[in-house]
Amino acid sequence: MSYDEMYSYLEARVDALKTNRTGDERQTVDEVFDKQTLMTLYDMMVGGVIDSVRFPISTGKEGNVFYATDGDGDPVALKIFRTSTATFKHIGKYIEGDPRFKGLTGNRRKMIYAWTNKEFRNLQRYYDAGIPVPEPVSYGKNCLVMEFIGDETGPAPQLKDVILDDPTDTYDEVISFIIDGWQDAHLVHGDMSEYNILMMDGEPILIDCGQAMTADHFNSKELLIRDINNVNRFFRNRGADVINADIIMKEALEGKKDDDEDDDDEDDEYDDDDEYDGEDDVTDDDEVNTV
Ligand SMILES: Nc1ncnc2c1ncn2[C@@H]1O[C@H](COP(=O)(O)OP(=O)(O)OP(=O)(O)O)[C@@H](O)[C@H]1O
Ligand SMILES: [Mg+2]
Repeated sequence: MSYDEMYSYLEARVDALKTNRTGDERQTVDEVFDKQTLMTLYDMMVGGVIDSVRFPISTGKEGNVFYATDGDGDPVALKIFRTSTATFKHIGKYIEGDPRFKGLTGNRRKMIYAWTNKEFRNLQRYYDAGIPVPEPVSYGKNCLVMEFIGDETGPAPQLKDVILDDPTDTYDEVISFIIDGWQDAHLVHGDMSEYNILMMDGEPILIDCGQAMTADHFNSKELLIRDINNVNRFFRNRGADVINADIIMKEALEGKKDDDEDDDDEDDEYDDDDEYDGEDDVTDDDEVNTV
């Protein structure tokens, strides 16, 4: 199939392309839809992962999140990372010195694909551990498909924009994401804030998990304390009954974990969760996937 044929196929299904019908105008389409990205979306559509891409929910420096529909016409969220230097720089500060990204550093596109993959994996880990995050659906290259958090009226609001009935109650819930995240998912989110928590039916849901690190990463305890301080700061201002950061830290590190398995040996169970396997995915995929 030619590029033009693919483009016409997509034009009918991606709202952002509809107004840009002719040659030159195509260039003016939001640059998140570069040629590679369009091909990825095409693959996802042919593969039945998504059926249409409707309106942007969020447009940021590093990427956009769209309201999209799946094969049944049900809503899903589609996050597209921009393959730009801005994204590259943002990612760089998180993965500098991380051995899992060795060999990929320097290759901008591959790093961004690996990052997308990492967010997918992190979501899967949180989800499997029972922490409320959007259920990951699929990913390919720089595109990530996940459960849509919201309803017919639109996406759920960010925590920062919500008036809380019982701030302490929500606070306790969010602190449990930190503690259970560490203990059960072996992850530290690393960017936990009122921006990356959505409020759905009065309950917090954690999003934006690309930068989350495994608990054994050299920097993980610093990230943990930073997450705790961020959450405490926000909820203190909202009048919640805030717990001392040291106590939370202690509970995360030493708390309830009296059960079972070796903490270092959890990677294998995540080997077969890739529903969407783009043909030229990141080559050293597995190395990165264990995040
Ligand atoms: N699964 C989802 N369901 C509904 N809305 C979502 C979902 N994921 C993200 N969003 C919306 O998109 C916004 C941006 O998402 P996210 O925080 O994951 O991206 P980001 O990398 O922080 O982007 P930016 O740099 O633009 O802030 C969120 O604040 C939220 O409003
Ligand atoms: Mg965010």
